[in-house]
Amino acid sequence: MIYDNILETIGNTPIVKLHKVVPKNSPHTFLAKLEYFNPGLSVKDRIALALIGGAEQRGDLKPGGTIIEATSGNTGMGLALVAAVKGYKAIFIMPDKVSEEKRAALRAYGAKVVITPTAVEPEDPRSYLSVSKKLAEITPNSFLTNQYHNPDNARQHYATTGPEIWKQTNGKVDVFVAGAGTGGTVSGAGRFLKEKNPNLKVLCPDPVGSILYDLFYYKEVRTGPQPYKVEGVGEDMLPDNVHMDIIDDFVQVEDKESFHLVRELVAKEGICVGPSSAMALAGAIKYSEQFKEPKTFVIMMADSGRAYLSKAFNDDWMKDNGFMPSPMRSNTVKKLIQTLNQPELIFAKVGQKVLEVVQLLKKHNISQVPVYSEGEIVGILDESDLIFPLATGKLKADEPIIHLVKGNIIWVEEDDNLESLSDHFQKGFIALVKDSSGTTRLITKIDLLDFISNNVTQ
Ligand SMILES: Cc1ncc(COP(=O)(O)O)c(C=O)c1O
Repeated sequence: MIYDNILETIGNTPIVKLHKVVPKNSPHTFLAKLEYFNPGLSVKDRIALALIGGAEQRGDLKPGGTIIEATSGNTGMGLALVAAVKGYKAIFIMPDKVSEEKRAALRAYGAKVVITPTAVEPEDPRSYLSVSKKLAEITPNSFLTNQYHNPDNARQHYATTGPEIWKQTNGKVDVFVAGAGTGGTVSGAGRFLKEKNPNLKVLCPDPVGSILYDLFYYKEVRTGPQPYKVEGVGEDMLPDNVHMDIIDDFVQVEDKESFHLVRELVAKEGICVGPSSAMALAGAIKYSEQFKEPKTFVIMMADSGRAYLSKAFNDDWMKDNGFMPSPMRSNTVKKLIQTLNQPELIFAKVGQKVLEVVQLLKKHNISQVPVYSEGEIVGILDESDLIFPLATGKLKADEPIIHLVKGNIIWVEEDDNLESLSDHFQKGFIALVKDSSGTTRLITKIDLLDFISNNVTQ
C-alpha cells in the first residue's frame, strides 16, 4: 500500500513478545508495543496529529501559524513532522537535561529550540512551562499545544492506541502498562481498554523522584520532587491528562533498574528503546509477581533508544551516574593500601651514596625509594636511575645520590579513587599518601596493577 503522506504512517505500531528480559519462571506474558515504529520515532506522533488537528478544527491555528510547545523532545519531533507537512512554524522549549541528539533532531526539521534549567519550580519564570506560556503570548498567530492539559492528547490515545491494543491482542490483555509524562497514553488507552474489559488493570510505573506515586497513594506529595535521569515520564506537577480514576496502581522504579534493563532489552531482545520503556517494563515485572495465574501484560514502549546513545548507551555516562559498576571509581586508595604488605616506609636520605641506596633497594626487594631531606620528602629514586649508569661506568658507587633524585611525586588522599591514581601514574607521577595513622606510604604502578588483577573483574 502507498501512503499519501508521512502522517498516514502514524500509529498501528507492532506488538512484540518479550522472552529473555523477563523472569524465566514467570507464568505471565509480557508484550511490548513498540512506538518507535512511528515516523518521528515515538508515541508522541499520535498526539501531534490530534493537538494540531483539534486546533485547526476550533480555528485556534491558522495557516502559516506557529506551534509552541514545552516538550522533552518527542512531542517536539511529532509536532515538527506535522508542522513540516502542514506548513506551520514550530518553537520548542525543553529542560537542559534533554539529550543533545533530541535537540539536534528538532533543529533538523527547521524548528527553533529554547533550553531552560531543570532545577527550578514549575511556577518559576525560567521553567520550561513558564517560558512556553510567555512565548505564546508574544508570538502572533501562535498556538500553545499544551500537551499536559489539552484533552485532545488523552482522547487521541482513546481513539487509536487503545483500540489497536484491543485488536492486536484479540482482547486478551489483562494489564495495560504505561508510564505517565503528560498522562495521555495511560489515561486515554487505559480508559478505552477498561471500557472493553472492566477487569483489566491499568498500571502506571513511575520513576523514584516523581510526585505522581505520592499523589495516587496519599493525595499529597510526601517526598520530592527529586531529580531523576529517566526522560519523558514522571512529573513534578499533576497534568490534567493524568486521570487517576483510570489507574489501578503505581509502582516506583529506580533509575538504576531502568538504565540496566534498557541495555538488556537491546542486547537480549534486539529491541532498542529509551529508558522510559525499560522503566515501564521494570514496573510491570514487579507488579506481575503478585499474580499466580498467568496474565498478559501490554507495555507501552514510548520511544527509540537511538535518542540516548550519549546517555544510556554510553559507558562513561552510565558510570558517572552510578548505573554501571566502575571498580576503578568505586575503590579507593585506602582500600589499596590496606592490601599492601608494607608496614613502614623505606626511604633514603639525600646525603646517601649510590651504593648504599642500591643495597637498600636490594635488602627490601623494592624498586624505588622516596628521598628525604630535612624531614621532607623531596623526590624519588628509581632502580633504573642507578643500574644502567652504574653498569656503564657513568656513575660511581661512592657518588652522592642528590643529583639523581626526581621530583615527580604527588600526594594523594586516602579517599581518592583508583581512577584518579591511575591518571597520576599516566602523567609520570609517583604517589605518596599519609594513611589514617599518619604514616607515609608509597604506592607504585605495580601496587595498582596487583590490586586491579586481584580485585577488579569487569
Ligand atoms: C520517552 C517518553 N516516554 C513516555 C512518555 C509518556 O507518555 P505520556 O505523555 O502520554 O504520558 C513520554 C512523554 O513525554 C516520553 O517522552
